[in-house]
Amino acid sequence: MGDLLNRAREFESRWIQDPPMELRPLFHFTPPVGWLNDPNGFSWYDGQYHLFYQYYPYNTHWGAIHWGHAVSHDLLQWTYRPAALAPENDYDKDGCFSGSGITMDDGRHLLMYTGYVYDEEDPEHRGIQTQNIAIGDGTDYEKYVNNPVIRTQDIPDTSDPYDFRDPKIWKTEDGSYQAVIASGDLKLGAKVLVFHSPDGLQWKYSHCMTVNDNRFGKMWECPDYFLLDSQEVLLVNAMDMAEEGSEFHKGNNGLFILGHSDSDQGIFCEHSVFTLDHGMDFYAGQTMETTDGRRILIGWMQNPGTTLKRTVERSYYGQMSIPRELKIRNGRLVQSPVRELERYRSEKTVHRNVCLHSEQIRLDGIHGRVLDLEMTVSSIKAEAIFDSFVIQFAQSDEQYSELSIIPKAGRVTVSRSHSGADPTNLNERETALSEWNGKLCIRMILDYCSAEIFIGDGETVFSMTLETDPEAEDITFISQGDLILNVTAYRLDPTLV
Ligand code: FRU
Repeated sequence: MGDLLNRAREFESRWIQDPPMELRPLFHFTPPVGWLNDPNGFSWYDGQYHLFYQYYPYNTHWGAIHWGHAVSHDLLQWTYRPAALAPENDYDKDGCFSGSGITMDDGRHLLMYTGYVYDEEDPEHRGIQTQNIAIGDGTDYEKYVNNPVIRTQDIPDTSDPYDFRDPKIWKTEDGSYQAVIASGDLKLGAKVLVFHSPDGLQWKYSHCMTVNDNRFGKMWECPDYFLLDSQEVLLVNAMDMAEEGSEFHKGNNGLFILGHSDSDQGIFCEHSVFTLDHGMDFYAGQTMETTDGRRILIGWMQNPGTTLKRTVERSYYGQMSIPRELKIRNGRLVQSPVRELERYRSEKTVHRNVCLHSEQIRLDGIHGRVLDLEMTVSSIKAEAIFDSFVIQFAQSDEQYSELSIIPKAGRVTVSRSHSGADPTNLNERETALSEWNGKLCIRMILDYCSAEIFIGDGETVFSMTLETDPEAEDITFISQGDLILNVTAYRLDPTLV
């Protein structure tokens, strides 16, 4: 272990042992101290879930990136482990960028990550990116002596050595390893390259899985590839996208691409592309398969475009999303919070068949900031669709955020414009509502510093961080027109499990 890793471990351990009294979410992972971005190495190893993350312990802004580490039995309550990687070798001295983890045949835990080194000769001062390995026992990780295992000379000619990152590794049926890696192409924009290895250590370029032909942003990051309900899925995170209808927002988008690989060359033929999350804060998602066969996605609950403005300073900055179960239904991705969250439900409050006639109401017992809310809203008469239904939450006299359903216009919007502190320069989002069939289900998870909203079956999800005063606990329901509302609310209690 090098000096920089020791220094990081010693530094963070002081914050873990003696954390300051400050606001933290109860069910969303946050770093012990400092900055967090992408989830990395999300995997099951030695009887526990492991989550690593892009981490700069020394202040709350992105810096020379380390890998932080935590473990969990249920994906929701995490225990910190000491930082796993520090940028202290000649091939990663300016950052241990994103990557993934897997159990090797001999039982060791293998991490594959991108090493980042600023190129002093480059006029734009960009960084050379190579792929590297570290192997460990679930606590301590040793960087592989033959790093980098994939160098820039191992990539095709038109690939950009300054944009080659974020390996996601998996094991194939014959026991060998494959990895998808995001790559910039000097002509084609973004692409995903596939590399192959017999043992996880020696890697060879296999083929280019897909190119974006300058659609969907300038560069892709953090790819992931897996089978979901027998269909092939490619996840990528697109940088600098132009707005496209109500599906793709300007800026950074996580994309979920359904397709199939052609059997000759392994080229991924795209069938359909969706946004993973329609809210303001979800990026760089990574998946793993649980031992009971569920595909779980966790994301950085932020996005490179929403981290700049700060109104509240704490000892840490950044959080992960609630891990989500993924499924495909009717050709669409559906997402729901991991079922483990239900074990933390307490104090159930139910309101059935509440009729609203162009009014604003509160319901007894429906308030709080750490809640799991299930709601259905329906028209009173099938032929008389209401104009709008709005839920204001994290609300006080001065502050609120809101979800608005406007069925006639086929629109749903979220806003945190009045959430108190102006958290970022991106405070509202809107998307299309699938056709109104008289009734809509909504699930909302509130956890002090965020709201995640699952619409319908979970085919539309909005994630957003909140910097609202934690005492802003009210929830208000507002209708324009006549509707029927059902609400079941649970307080989420971390001491229950
Ligand atoms: C995505 C990303 C990755 C990179 C990492 C650096 O947010 O830019 O592509 O590996 O963050 O922290």
